[in-house]
Amino acid sequence: MEKILIIGASGQLGTELTLKLRELFGTENVIASDIHEPSAIIKDGPFELLDATDKNRLIQLTEQYQFTQIYHLAAILSAKGEQNPKFAWDLNMNSLLNVLDIGKDYGSKIYWPSSIAVFGPDTPRDDTPQYTVMNPDTVYGISKLAGERWCKYYYKHYGVDVRSLRYPGLIGYKSKPGGGTTDYAVDIFWKAISDESYDCFLREDAMLPMMYMDDAVNATIQLMQADPEKLTVRSSYNLAAMSFTPAMVYEAIQKRYPDFKISYTPDFRQEIADGWPNSIDDSQARKDWNWKPEFDLKRLADTMLMHLEEILVPMK
Ligand code: SER
Repeated sequence: MEKILIIGASGQLGTELTLKLRELFGTENVIASDIHEPSAIIKDGPFELLDATDKNRLIQLTEQYQFTQIYHLAAILSAKGEQNPKFAWDLNMNSLLNVLDIGKDYGSKIYWPSSIAVFGPDTPRDDTPQYTVMNPDTVYGISKLAGERWCKYYYKHYGVDVRSLRYPGLIGYKSKPGGGTTDYAVDIFWKAISDESYDCFLREDAMLPMMYMDDAVNATIQLMQADPEKLTVRSSYNLAAMSFTPAMVYEAIQKRYPDFKISYTPDFRQEIADGWPNSIDDSQARKDWNWKPEFDLKRLADTMLMHLEEILVPMK
C-alpha cells in the first residue's frame, strides 16, 4: 500500500502528477502539499500546507502519514532564480536536503526533478550526452547540478532510493509554468486561443528541447516503478522528446489559427537559452527503463489547441 506526498502540488508539474497518481493509487493515498492553498483542480483530495524548507513540518507529516514515496517538485525556476539568486539557492537546496534526509531516516522512496539547465555554454549543444561538460551559468542550473550530486551521494552512502529526470521544457494545458525560460512555449498557445498576438521573449531561432506533459508524467511514473537493479543513473537521467524553436511552434499553431501574429523581443532569458542544449541524447533512459516519448510537435500543438479551446472558447 503506497502513501505518497507531493511537495509543490499546485505547480505546473505538481498539478498533473497529483491527478495521475491519485488515479493510480487512490485519491486518499496521495497527499498534495504546497506553500499556498490548493488550486481548484487538486482540491478534491487530501491537502496539507507545507513550506518545503520547513523540516520540522515535513517530519511531522511523515510521522503522521508514513509516506512510502515523496515527489519533491517545489523549486524556483531559471528566469525567476536570476532575480534573487541566494533565495533560489536556499530554497532549491535546503528543501532537497530535507527531503533526502526523510528518505534516509524514514525509508521513503524519493523523486526529484532535475533539468536541461544543468548544462551550460561549454556543453556540446546537439545530442547532449548523459555524461559531459556541464558548467551551468544560472543559479537554477547550479542548484540542479548540485542537487543531482546530493541525490547520488544519498543513494551511495545511505541507500536512499532516489530517482530523477532532467526534464526539457514542459508544455501542458492544465496549469501554467512560473518563471522559466521555456514558459513561452505554453504562453503562446493561450495567446493564440485568446485571439491575441504574442510577443516572444526568445529569438525566433532559439532551439530548445521540449516535451508534452503527458510524456513527462509517464516518464516520471515509469522511472519510479522501474526495477531498481536496472537503474544505472542515480544522479539524473537525460530525457528527450522533441526540439523546436519559437518560429516552429508558431508555424504549427498558424496551421489552425492563420490570423495569429507573433513578434520577437528577446530579453535576459535569451541569454539563458543560449547556454542550454538544442537537443538531448536520452539513450540511457531508453535502455535502462524502456523510455519512449509519444508526442512530437504536431501532436503536441493539436492536443494543446484542442484542450485550450474547450477551456477558453466557452469563456469568450
Ligand atoms: N523549464 C525550466 C525553465 O525554463 C527548465 O527546467 O526554467
